[in-house]
This record gives sequence, structure tokens and C-alpha cells, in this order.
Amino acid sequence: MSEPKLYPIHNHLKGKTFFTAEKYQRFYNESIENPEAFWAKEACRLDWMQPFTKVKNTSYHKEDFHIRWYEDGTLNACYNCVDRHLKDKGDQVAIFWEGDNPEDSRTITYKELHQEISKFANVLRMHDVHKGDRVTIYLPMIPEAIIAILACARIGAIHSVVFAGFSAESLEGRIFDCDSHFLVTADEGVRGGKKIPLKKNVEEALQGKAAHILKKMIVVKRTGGDIPWQEKRDFWYHEEMDKVAIDCPLEEMGAEDPLFILYTSGSTGKPKGVLHTTGGYLVYAALTHQYVFDYHPGDIYWCTADIGWVTGHTYSIYGPLANGATIVLFEGVPQYPDASRFWKIVDKYKVTIFYTAPTVIRSLMREGTDFVQKTSRASLRILGSVGEPINPEAWEWYYDNVGNGRCPIMDTWWQTETGGILISALPGVTPLKPGSATFPLFGVKPALVNHKGQIIENNSEAEGNLVLLDSWPGQMRTVYGDQERFIKTYFTDFPGMYFSGDGARRDKEGNYWITGRVDDVINVSGHRLGTAEVESALDAHPKVVESAVVGFPHDIKGQGIYAFVTLHKKEPPSESLRKELIDLVRRKIGAIATPDRIQWASGLPKTRSGKIMRRILRKIAANELETLGDISTLADPLVVDDLVKNHKYTVSA
Ligand code: PRX
Repeated sequence: MSEPKLYPIHNHLKGKTFFTAEKYQRFYNESIENPEAFWAKEACRLDWMQPFTKVKNTSYHKEDFHIRWYEDGTLNACYNCVDRHLKDKGDQVAIFWEGDNPEDSRTITYKELHQEISKFANVLRMHDVHKGDRVTIYLPMIPEAIIAILACARIGAIHSVVFAGFSAESLEGRIFDCDSHFLVTADEGVRGGKKIPLKKNVEEALQGKAAHILKKMIVVKRTGGDIPWQEKRDFWYHEEMDKVAIDCPLEEMGAEDPLFILYTSGSTGKPKGVLHTTGGYLVYAALTHQYVFDYHPGDIYWCTADIGWVTGHTYSIYGPLANGATIVLFEGVPQYPDASRFWKIVDKYKVTIFYTAPTVIRSLMREGTDFVQKTSRASLRILGSVGEPINPEAWEWYYDNVGNGRCPIMDTWWQTETGGILISALPGVTPLKPGSATFPLFGVKPALVNHKGQIIENNSEAEGNLVLLDSWPGQMRTVYGDQERFIKTYFTDFPGMYFSGDGARRDKEGNYWITGRVDDVINVSGHRLGTAEVESALDAHPKVVESAVVGFPHDIKGQGIYAFVTLHKKEPPSESLRKELIDLVRRKIGAIATPDRIQWASGLPKTRSGKIMRRILRKIAANELETLGDISTLADPLVVDDLVKNHKYTVSA
């Protein structure tokens, strides 16, 4: 591999950032040598109701497994994100909301945000929602989404946000899994000029097993479109908000009380409800937001992630608001009305910190530089990237065109499970290498292990499975309702360590390069999907015998979805069946799971014990037909010839 280009620390940032290389090293060493002292000091960034006396109480060992941070402290996350800023920042803008239509916008100060949250928290209480209850939030990117999330935090209800792009069936499964009696949605969402039928989806979700679970819902009127309605179960947001008082007392929460559940895909079975708790998560969200983005008062901060993903939770809401930031919340898409929309928003609000995903950069790259160059972007200081490995070409385009060569890019590696960023460059500290997330943050002890779980010597060049040797405060605490699955998924392959499911390489300077998932999870446009989920959607079609889904390299999405499908003998493949299967997956999961390619397969490559050899399918999907490797252990090696032949038709179709 050729040596990557190195981008030195920008002169104009020197002396102005929180950290220098020397200070980072000192802090990092302290955080590893004495985590108790480090995390006790850092927790002071929050306001606690009852101060904690214990800091870290964690063990990854099976016999005595537990993860607890600040366990005897109490606090309220909403208080920390809003109330405590009222004294000095009541009139400061908390949210610049930019609608899908460039003419639509709203500005909400901290004082106004506090009022709206307090009222909505009273609405929840009026409808009998209390501490520990699960509230499903299925909302588009409108201020009411943040209001609903923080209102839950205020009264100690556990929010479970479901991405508004997920289908009715996905929503149904998530309502059912966490036994959620209450839901907040909107009549319709708006994206790229198109309407999304949210309330209609909810209605559909309630046709099945969630029907008897969900008791009530609140509906925000976003478009005024026609929607199904059921009296006594459905209530308008604006009408309920008129019925309640402005003051809402805070619930005192234990640091280890749950804050939210967020479903994410794994390599097996249905999506898991990742559970985060209050104290450690918020300390970690606030710290990483401040340090990674070098956030200072006065910054205008914009993270483009949807609130339905973890990035939207930690870096569009909890981290920045805990730090009293002014944030931008955008309802629409980067290409609407045209491909300069993001940069026009940057200019309109004078955004200084901008955080997005590589897939967005690649899709805008395709549109050419004119759309960027016709805007100023002079306000930008720091850029960020998250969700998937960023290819050096996209990195350089982002750096040269969006940041005009002035703004360092923080390539941040983390996961829904980690709660916040674990590996990232820091402004003013790290020379940048396009494609590398560089170094661990404070308190984070990464290591690379071989398939036997042996650590490949630290501080040397290596490649292996990326694990974390010790806990950090933002770590997930359990899979909701299934502690056994939590331990089995993350702590069993390599006992005594947290296994991320990612592979990585470390170069001789110690920089980490994430190479991608090593399990059956694919990353489509920065969104995680389990191949098993897509397969079970395809297999539900009566004409399908079985299917196997793998990822393949995709120019814009990073990975595309490639499905090998075996039909019943008497069923001929056809274009209309291909469309039916695509529709089925969209209906069962959502548009993000749409297969890019479906290849008809007379059989799948299986070992004699019946296990599908995905390695071979991945090679075929990637068109690496010369390097299929050993196929002699297959029950029927001839299957492969057929697959290779049909692959050519699939790709040219
Ligand atoms: O494979 C890694 C990839 O995204 C996975 C986590 O996905 P999710 O839980 O949906 O969270 C996405 C946002 C935090 C990881 O296991 N990933 C995330 N960030 C990066 C990345 N891969 C490479 N570089 C990154 N910066």
C-alpha cells in the first residue's frame, strides 16, 4: 500500500484549540492510568442533584458481569440540556430549524425550548406516562422531535425513537419489543418536496401484534394532509399543548436509570434494543462533543444526522445541548431544491462546525464542484465524518472543496452501542491521514485481536478484530429485555473484552484504520443492516425457497445490497417478480434496505453441513471472480459455475 498523504495541523488553529499534542497525551495517559480520577473530574461538567461517590464499577468477566458508572449520583438529562442554561443563555438560539422548503424556518431560544418541553412533559403526564414507561417517537426532523425526546427525559420516560424512514412493519416490531404504550408521530413528513405518510404507517403498524400494546398517540400537524384517526386514542399535539401548565417539575433520575432505547441491526435475528442510561451517557456525549469538535461558546453547530440514528441522539441533541450550543436542525435532503442546499444552509446560519456522513459527500461529489463553489462557507472551522469508512477521494473532495483546505476533518469511529465517539482525530492535536480515524479518545483502550482473541502487541503495526479492553461511561448497558443476548453478542467471542464487530488496521504511528464489519452486518449509506433481516423479508415471498444477502462495493452508498434468490422449481424468474421482491423488502424494513441487485440462483454454495459460504457470494457480488478461493469443501461445487454465469446477466441487467 502506498504511503497516505499527511495533512499537518493547521497554523490558524494553533494555540486556539482545547488540546495540543502534548496535552492530549497527558490527558490520555491520566485517563488510562487513573480512570476514576479522570471521569470524576469530567463528570463535573454536568449538574448533579445528588453527587456521586462512586465513579466506575465495571467488569467484563462473565462470572461477575456489570457496567455501572456514577451509580449513586442522581440528575436529570433535560435539566442539563436546557434548564441550567436559562440563567445565562435564555435568549440564545438553541435551534435554528430549516424546513424542507427553503422558505420555512423557525428559531427557538433556550427559553422557548424550555417552555415547550415543560408543556409537552405535562401532556405526557396528563396521559399517564411516567418514569420508566417506554415512549415510541416516530417523527420527522422537526423541533417537536427534540421537544418530545427531552420531555421524556424530563419525566424519566424511556424514549425509543424509530427512524421515520422505517416501514410500518419495522415500527410494529419495535413497539412490540419494548412494550410501548404511547407514541408520538406527525400527520406526514416532508423530504425533498415529497410527503411521507407517517400517521398512515402507524395505523398499519397497529394492525398486527402491536395493536393491543399501544394505547394512545399524539400527532403533530406538519402538513395538514388527510389521515386516519381514532377518537380517544389519537390526540393532536397543538390541542393537548393548550391544556397544560408551563411548569413541569423534573424527575430525579439515578445515573443508571435508562434514558433511551435505540434499535440497531446485528448479524442475527431481529434488531436489538440498545439501552443507554442517564449519567455516563450524558457525561460522555458532552465531553466528546466539546473536545472532538473543539466546541466553544458562539459556535453554530450542525450535525446532519437524522434523530432516528444514534448520531442524531448524541450529536444532534444530547451532546450539543448539554454544552449549551446553538444547533441547526434540517428537515430536508442535500439535493433539494438543488445540490447546493447544504452549503446555502451553512452560509445562512454561519455554521462553524459541520458533521456529516461519507455517503452524503460522495453523492454531492457526483454533482460537481459548481454547487459548492457558488457558496461562501467562510464560517466553517471544523468538519466531521461518521458512519462508515471515508474513502480518501471523498475525504479530499470534502477537505478541498467544502472546507477550502482550511478545516480539519474529524473522522469519528463509533457505534450505536458505544453511545459516543471512541476513535477520532482532535483539532490541533492530530495530523490527518485521509481514511484513518487516527487515535483513541480519553479513557478508550482499543486493541486488535486475532481470531483466538490474543492481543496483537500494542503500539505496533497490526491488523485484526477491533476490541475495547475496558469500559467507558457512554457504553450501552444491555439489550432491552435480553441481558443474555447482550453478553453473547459483545463479550463472548473474545472473553473479557468488548467486541465491536469491526476489523481494523493500525499503522506504525498508531493510527487506526477501520476496515469494516467482520460479521454479517452491512453498512449501506452509513446505516446498519443485518443480512439476516433482508433475507427473512425476501424469504417471506411464497415463490422464494431461500435467499442469501451480501454487501458489495457501491460508489455512493459505500456498500450496496446484493441478494441471491432461489425460487421454487416451477416459478420462472421475471422482471415483475424482481419488482415484487423489492417492494416486499421496502414494505417489511424500509427504503434503505432496497436490494440494489437481485440475482436468480438455482442453488446457493453450501458446505456439507448446510452452511452457506458467504465468502464466495461476497466475491461474486464484488465481481472478484478470479479469486473465489477454495470451493472444494462445498457440497456441490457446480453451483458456483452457475452463480458466476448468472452474475454477468445480473450486472448487465
Ligand atoms: O462499521 C462501523 C461503522 O458503522 C458501524 C456502527 O454503525 P451504527 O451503530 O449504525 O452507528 C453509526 C454512527 C456511529 C461501525 O461498527 N462506522 C461508524 N463510523 C465509522 C465507521 N466505519 C469507519 N469509519 C468510521 N468513522
